[in-house]
Amino acid sequence: MSLVRKKTIEQSIADTDEPEYQLKKRLTALDLTVFGIGVIIGAGIFTLTGKAAKSFAGPGIALSFVLAAFCCALAALCYAEFSSTVPVSGSAYTFSYFALGEIFAWIIGWDLLLELMLGASVVAQGWSTYAALFLEQIGLSWPESIGPDSNVNVLAMLLVVVLTILATIGIKESLRVNLVLVAIKLFVVLFVIIAGLFYIKSSNLTPFIPPSVPAANSDVTITTPLFQALFGFEPSTFGVMGLVSGASLVFFAFIGFDVVATTAEEAKNPQRDLPRGIIGSLAICTVLYVAVCLVITGMVKYTDISGEAALAEAFRSVGRGGFATLISAGAVAGLTTVVLTLMIGAARVVFAMSRDHLMPRQLGKTHPKWGTPYRLTIGIGVVVALVAGVTPIGNLEEMVNIGTLAAFTLVSISVPLLRKSRPDIERSFRVPWSPVIPIVAAVICFYLMLNLSLETWLRFGIWMALGFAIYAVYGYRRSRVGIEAKTGEQVKA
Ligand code: ALA
Repeated sequence: MSLVRKKTIEQSIADTDEPEYQLKKRLTALDLTVFGIGVIIGAGIFTLTGKAAKSFAGPGIALSFVLAAFCCALAALCYAEFSSTVPVSGSAYTFSYFALGEIFAWIIGWDLLLELMLGASVVAQGWSTYAALFLEQIGLSWPESIGPDSNVNVLAMLLVVVLTILATIGIKESLRVNLVLVAIKLFVVLFVIIAGLFYIKSSNLTPFIPPSVPAANSDVTITTPLFQALFGFEPSTFGVMGLVSGASLVFFAFIGFDVVATTAEEAKNPQRDLPRGIIGSLAICTVLYVAVCLVITGMVKYTDISGEAALAEAFRSVGRGGFATLISAGAVAGLTTVVLTLMIGAARVVFAMSRDHLMPRQLGKTHPKWGTPYRLTIGIGVVVALVAGVTPIGNLEEMVNIGTLAAFTLVSISVPLLRKSRPDIERSFRVPWSPVIPIVAAVICFYLMLNLSLETWLRFGIWMALGFAIYAVYGYRRSRVGIEAKTGEQVKA
């Protein structure tokens, strides 16, 4: 039973007053929304749109985005309820500690690390591709031997180092830089939508959902979606199943709204502003994404779309090379904020875990002047820089998705459970029609997980096994909640 030992909500809130672990409460609803948009719009729309339209959904990719957004919106409501109830750093990890128990909290914390650190590394690599392209377009060139296609991607590493310094110095400072970059990114996305409207050909948009095509090889391989492998469907692309596969992939484009909840302790008025920040940023991004998809698949036939840089290439294909340069610049700015925010989120999750002694407690100490968990931030920066710089992670977006979807599933289930066990606490935001919406959210998230490939599941299994091993030899014994339960005495954070 001690595996599901729980932390009380009161204990979680009291922890935020520990002087050595205090974060500065400076963020407003607008800051949180900008923070959300900063992390949401990124590699997903700039690169995955093309790949998903070309391989899975055709122009119907807009529908895949709607489906993924629907799933995220349901999960976002659940996140909003939690963060309006218990404004404590660590997001889903913290929520599940008191709703489901320690082992689930550990699983989610470990999942979130996968989402945030691997996500930051994947996007940093994507950034370096766009940065090299942009430099080339403006007549400068980055040496190929240390560029995106070399063994040591110095460009991606440089980005991570600069952003780590920024995140260490202070969250408000990071957000100021974020604000400028988010403005550029939004401008470019709006530009794509408006300028692209003039080049849409309706013939490109029909058939909107291309008919399903059986895969050339009907054997189950490592890349077959788990769902098809389990239930023996013939692997196929396009058609309605293609829309779902597309949604499982472009789900990546929405990742990040949950990161808003990781900064809960730094919000001035978290009960009111966190739900606004989470739901607001998700809504704005959904509208923009659907518009971008319709424009891009309207400009270029889905069969000819670029799988790498769909937005820039669409304009080049209609003879607008100058626009393509502008879009590359926007992508460089845009992806920068994604990497920054994912790293800040990762630091906040480990921060919460170290405060509970599931990770070494020394890691979480905040800096007396900067008010940030500086040791962690630097440590995470080093890991992300190494992964982005020297590993061929290439297209591991699916791996990031599976970690996030697993966390969403557990968070959704936690909402009705916590309402039952703690009906007394004040919830300034409540998910409507609970338990229906939380259950539907969990089912859809799980269904999208099943649509990810066998390969992704295998890698995920290895990551989770590693997590359990660490918990068994470290967290289980050191856990503050566990020691308090055993000795009956309070342990200092
Ligand atoms: N949603 C983020 C992106 O698309 C992770 O880059």
